[in-house]
Amino acid sequence: MPEVVRRIAEVRAAVAAARGVGRPIALTPTMGALHAGHLAHLDAARAAVGAQAFTVVSIFVNPLQFGEGEDLDRYPRTLEADLAALDGVGADLVFAPEVGEMYPGGAVEVSIAAGPVASTFEGAARPGHFDGALTVVAKLLHIVGPDVATFGRKDAQQLFLVERMVRDLDIPATILEVDIVREADGLAMSSRNRYLSPEQRRAALALSAGMWAAEAASGQGRDAALLAAAGVTDAEPAVDVDYLDLVDPATFRPVGPEHRGPVIAIVAARVGTTRLIDNARFALG
Ligand code: PAJ
Repeated sequence: MPEVVRRIAEVRAAVAAARGVGRPIALTPTMGALHAGHLAHLDAARAAVGAQAFTVVSIFVNPLQFGEGEDLDRYPRTLEADLAALDGVGADLVFAPEVGEMYPGGAVEVSIAAGPVASTFEGAARPGHFDGALTVVAKLLHIVGPDVATFGRKDAQQLFLVERMVRDLDIPATILEVDIVREADGLAMSSRNRYLSPEQRRAALALSAGMWAAEAASGQGRDAALLAAAGVTDAEPAVDVDYLDLVDPATFRPVGPEHRGPVIAIVAARVGTTRLIDNARFALG
């Protein structure tokens, strides 16, 4: 089993010891309820910095990034199973702090402002979400001081904002992008998939299918790609689309009708009471 620590001072000591014997440090921040999509980050980190990497996984359900009425209380907490899964992929250290360790006194006075992109798409639906997510990511980067930190493309807007934060605030870590790991039928793996009934899970396939329809039509430009994706998602009555758009990977702003080149197709939808997101990267034109 990986070593589990609950204190910031213990993480710092373990990381310093690993650094002392020349091991590069890799950090994978998570909220637990781990699935194969999370576990893939460890291999990606070792592929990037070497098999001798000291791999740190944080497991912390960060209250700061949950809004009023969101699933903070019911978010799955499965530490024992998570540790067993991390053992299987050779994680070295698990940092699983209590809320009071990360936020002594209950709240922060000073936090990260994630900027204008953070009020669009996921941020429009979840006000304050990205300020909270970036604040905890900044704290984790400062606590661990990794050479490389992994973030999944599954959360494309979060990844964009983490990369901007690291660049804009000169945080000395390299951000490693990890591809989306999917179930065999295409559903993007997510800790929230366990909320879905069998029927909802089937309906949720419209998200990935919609993304692929957009990609298949990408040669005919933006409007054709969007129309193709909407054709798939609109055909599934159990899927209530919040947004479906094509954004420029460099700015995370929607592309114009004449745009050519790389895009990220992004979708969010409610299936029952569960909010799901997916995306795909391809080029238009
Ligand atoms: P969480 O949802 O637990 O995700 C942890 C990391 O795993 C994120 O970088 C996410 O993008 C990645 N991930 C999730 N599903 C994935 C999949 N199917 N394939 C590949 N990677 C996947 O994202 C968060 O936690 C939090 O916001 C966090 C960054 C930990 C800050 O609290």
